[in-house]
Amino acid sequence: MTAIERCLELARFSETPGCITRTFLSPPMRDVHHNLREWMEPLGMRVWIDDAGNLHGLYPGKTGRRLIIGSHVDSVPNAGAYDGVLGVTLAISLIEALKGELLPYSVEIVAFSEEEGVRFGVPFIGSRALTGALDEVLLNTKDKQGITVSEAIRAFGLDPTEIPLAAIDVAVTIGYLEFHIEQGPVLESLHLPLGLVTAINGQSRHELTFQGQPNHAGTTPMHLRRDALVAAADWIVEVERTGQTEPGLVATVGRIAVTPGAGNVIPGAAYLSLDVRHSDDAIRVNCTVKIIEAARRIGQRRSIDVSTTELLNQPAVPCDAVLTEVLEASLQKVGHPVHKMGSGAGHDAMIMAERVPIAMLFVRSPGGISHHPDETVLPGDVQAAIDVGCQFLLGLEQRGVSGLH
Ligand code: GLV
Ligand code: MN
Ligand code: MN
Repeated sequence: MTAIERCLELARFSETPGCITRTFLSPPMRDVHHNLREWMEPLGMRVWIDDAGNLHGLYPGKTGRRLIIGSHVDSVPNAGAYDGVLGVTLAISLIEALKGELLPYSVEIVAFSEEEGVRFGVPFIGSRALTGALDEVLLNTKDKQGITVSEAIRAFGLDPTEIPLAAIDVAVTIGYLEFHIEQGPVLESLHLPLGLVTAINGQSRHELTFQGQPNHAGTTPMHLRRDALVAAADWIVEVERTGQTEPGLVATVGRIAVTPGAGNVIPGAAYLSLDVRHSDDAIRVNCTVKIIEAARRIGQRRSIDVSTTELLNQPAVPCDAVLTEVLEASLQKVGHPVHKMGSGAGHDAMIMAERVPIAMLFVRSPGGISHHPDETVLPGDVQAAIDVGCQFLLGLEQRGVSGLH
């Protein structure tokens, strides 16, 4: 079975019929785990699930040192089949390509339980467990049903008090490698199959509440209203305007909910998400401050109470120079041009970078489409990534893995 066929197989497992939606430890995650296990065990891999719901598959090596290769298997609502999942199935193809040969180090594949931040508004639950950063605050964060991360873990049959056991042993870990679809149009525009990631942009995420006064839509004159949704709409335009003030800056309101949500009632409250990203942390943080100030200003003008909660302030992360050099040499050896690029999307690698050296390889996204069912990849590009990955495994060996850090 090819890496692409495996992505399509896992795409069958969804919370919603007819489209792919798989949030943190939702029931279809059991089917994903089942299939991954079925594919990994025949390759001689030991498979286990940690208490944050990450699936691990260990391909033993000649020593206890280990390279981690991973990505996530949760998804956004109405997702494509490849975001995250391809990084896992491609890693399985790499192990398959070894045909049982043992490397001087072991390879651990990790299928992270959560990267998108859909269910709890906070991303990277899976990778934070590996870096020891899945703290009490996050464990007590609630989803829209009022279920905490801890409760979701217990409901899946896991034990949140055992999460510390999932932390990686830094002393034996060579580094972390992630394959991921580009999720943008750059490689396609350059007619290139692969991209060498040099850094991952930082992200700020907030949740805002605009609180006004719900009232009768027929009897309340326009000048006596405190309409939360109109204030929110005013602010959304300001978010777009601020996002246009700096090259490379992106600012998005991706979710809005209104209560009470009836056609004949003035909206009493509006709940909105904010996502701001840039490669320069100072620019990102400054723009986020300006956007939040704009919300307060608009609220004051319209007699609407505005409250904000910061969900994420994740700095930009450079990839490791040595591992990236090995990946660059692997691209050259296989005969692919080296195109160095930043990542606008967040990845598990940026959390893993807190503890171990990271490297990332992008696979072209036809049409530049992602977070959408039309997301796709080209078989030749995936093969190219597998070839480069095999060369990377050899390259680490040739370089002498113990000399890496
Ligand atoms: C993950 O896909 C993100 O960058 O939001
Ligand atoms: Mn994604
Ligand atoms: Mn992803």
